[in-house]
Amino acid sequence: MNVPPPRRVLLDTDPGIDDALAILLGLASPEIDLAALSVVHGNCTLVEAVTNALAIAGLAGRPDLTVAAGCDRPLLRPPVTAHDTHGTHGLGYARLPWGAAQPVAEHAVDLLIREIMAAPGEVTLVAIGPLTNVALALRKEPRLAQAVRECIFMGGAFRAEGNITPLAEFNVFADPHAAQIVLSSGIPLTIMPWDITRDVRLSQGDVDRLLARGGPIPRFIAEATRYYIEFHLREFGWAGCSINDPAALALVWWPELAQTRDIYVEVELTSELTLGKTVGDVGGKSGCAPNVRLVESFDATEFVARFLRRMEELAERLAG
Ligand code: BDR
Ligand code: CA
Repeated sequence: MNVPPPRRVLLDTDPGIDDALAILLGLASPEIDLAALSVVHGNCTLVEAVTNALAIAGLAGRPDLTVAAGCDRPLLRPPVTAHDTHGTHGLGYARLPWGAAQPVAEHAVDLLIREIMAAPGEVTLVAIGPLTNVALALRKEPRLAQAVRECIFMGGAFRAEGNITPLAEFNVFADPHAAQIVLSSGIPLTIMPWDITRDVRLSQGDVDRLLARGGPIPRFIAEATRYYIEFHLREFGWAGCSINDPAALALVWWPELAQTRDIYVEVELTSELTLGKTVGDVGGKSGCAPNVRLVESFDATEFVARFLRRMEELAERLAG
């Protein structure tokens, strides 16, 4: 049987608990070659997010993974963080050791441009934080939109209320202007929205079973998600947590888990009340050609089972 070569992936991220789980999943998955992490403000400050990204790579046995610091604030709006959801430094109750690893000197925006333009049609960009880095990269090098193989973004709320304002989802709300730049750039864009990922749930039981296997990876996941689960219990009344970002990353190599439709999408930018709302032209009223492949359903049960298997395999690999 012919095994296809691993897909080269750049992950633009704001770690963040579910971002950390996405990084671990990426490093545990032979179907992709996770080339670098470009870090952006979002769940926590940029400095915290870069520190977390380096620490997670170290935890997964990849202290050599390229980590580049990007934008520390949105294009126009004041910064928003989500420390209430992700903990005082972004990784819940987990305390990872500071390694010797440092971010590269290159700015994340330049790294994205250099990597994508060096191999047209080959690099997949997965963005799981606010889109500031991606928007600036597109502004600086507009040919990026044609050179990238695909861009997958976790964000937006289409058929659900928002998770940061009544209508807006966090990653879009945290830099709505950047999101609109990306949407109008012509980049081949798949969106994994919060209406879908909020139902991709890791339960307390899943975490306990993983923890029983022992080792630093299960311990980290348990300590990080304990905070996240407390938040979900308080906010939504169930003992578990939505693992938004890993579900978006997995679309790169498990696309069969998702059903999509092509649709035209814009972001609300003028109303304070509905700022950052993603508006999908479901009925085709705008006359605009679709600019997004939107995930409309996803096999969450199968994904969570596969995710947990990958975490067990990673734990075993590091143990021995
Ligand atoms: C998104 O916002 C962040 O808090 C999560 O990391 C995820 O990327 C969910 O709305
Ligand atoms: Ca994120």
